[in-house]
Amino acid sequence: MGKEIKNITVFGPGMMGSGIAQVFASCEDLNVTIFIREKFEYDCIDKIKANLNALKGKNIISDNEIKGIFERIRLTEDIEDAVKDADFVIECIPENMELKQNLFMNLEKICREDTIFATNTSVMSITEISNKVKNKNRLVGTHFWNPPYLIPLVEVVKSDFTSNEVMDSTMELLKLAGKHPIRVNKDVPGFVANRLQHALWREAISIVERGIADAATVDEAIKYSFGLRLPKLGPIENADMVGTDLTLSIHSYILKYLENSSEPSPLLKEKVEAGDLGFKSGKGFQEWTSEQIEKENDELREYLIDVIYK
Ligand SMILES: NC(=O)c1ccc[n+]([C@@H]2O[C@H](COP(=O)([O-])OP(=O)(O)OC[C@H]3O[C@@H](n4cnc5c(N)ncnc54)[C@H](O)[C@@H]3O)[C@@H](O)[C@H]2O)c1
Repeated sequence: MGKEIKNITVFGPGMMGSGIAQVFASCEDLNVTIFIREKFEYDCIDKIKANLNALKGKNIISDNEIKGIFERIRLTEDIEDAVKDADFVIECIPENMELKQNLFMNLEKICREDTIFATNTSVMSITEISNKVKNKNRLVGTHFWNPPYLIPLVEVVKSDFTSNEVMDSTMELLKLAGKHPIRVNKDVPGFVANRLQHALWREAISIVERGIADAATVDEAIKYSFGLRLPKLGPIENADMVGTDLTLSIHSYILKYLENSSEPSPLLKEKVEAGDLGFKSGKGFQEWTSEQIEKENDELREYLIDVIYK
C-alpha cells in the first residue's frame, strides 16, 4: 500500500498538462493546482472546457459535474504556493532533458520530503531525469497518452531508483483517477506501449517502401483484421489462443523476412526532406485536404468517446 494522495500539482499546462489536470480534477477526492509560468498558460482552462464540452455533448457529464471539476482546480503563478501542499507533482513541460532535470532539482528545495515527483516524458530515461534530484527514490515516470482525458493507459515507469512505495502510491492514484495504469519494471526507451506501437509502424512503412501495398491499403489491412480484435485480444493472449506451437512455427518461418532496420526508413526521411509532413502540410504518405483533416480529428475524438464511455 502506498501513501494516500490528495493534492496534485501540474507543471506545464499545455496539450498534455491541461488534460492531465482535468483527469485528476475529475476525481472528487483530489485537488489540482496548476502552476502558471506565463500568462498565455491561463488558456489551459479553455482547453479543459472544450474537452468537457465534448463529453457533455455526448451526455457523459453534467453541468453540475463540470462545475465541481473547476472548483477542484486552482491556478497560481507563485511556485512555492503551487507545491506547498503537494503530495504529487507531475511535470508536462517540453521534452528536454535539462529542463526536466532542473525543474525537479529546484522543486526538491521547496517541496515536502515525501512529495512524489512524476514525469510525463514520452521517451526519455526516467533514471536520467532524476540525475539532479537528491532523493531519487521519489521520482517516477507516468506516461499518459494523448488525449489524456480519453486514453485510459498510463505507463508507470520505475527508474533504477524509484521506491516500491512510490510505484504503489502512483498506481493507486491513477486508478482512483479512473485511468488504467500499468507497471513498467525497467526504465527502457519506449517503455512498453511505444515499443510495440513502433515495431508495427516500422513494418507498415517498410511494406509501403517495398511496394508490397500502398499506404491506404496497409492501414486497411490492420483496421479490417487483427486491429478489430486488439481491444479484446492482445498478442500474447492470441499466441496462447492459437497455440504456442503454431506461434513458434510461424515465427520460425517469417521473422527473417520482417523489417529489422535500426534506422528510420529512407522513405520516411525522404518525405520529411520534401516537406511532406502529413496533416501539417496537407501531404504525407497520403494527401489531406483541410476538410479531411478536420473530419479525421473529429471522427477520432467521437470514436474514442464512444468506445471509452460505452
Ligand atoms: N503531445 C503528446 O502527444 C504527448 C504524449 C505523451 C507525452 N508527451 C510529453 O508531455 C510533455 C509535454 O508535451 P506537450 O505536447 O503537452 O507540450 P506543450 O508544448 O503543449 O506544453 C508544454 C507546456 O510547458 C510549458 N513550458 C515551456 N517551457 C517551459 C519551461 N522552461 N519550464 C516550465 N514550463 C515550460 C509551456 O508553456 C506549456 O504549457 C513532453 O515531455 C512530451 O514529450 C506528449
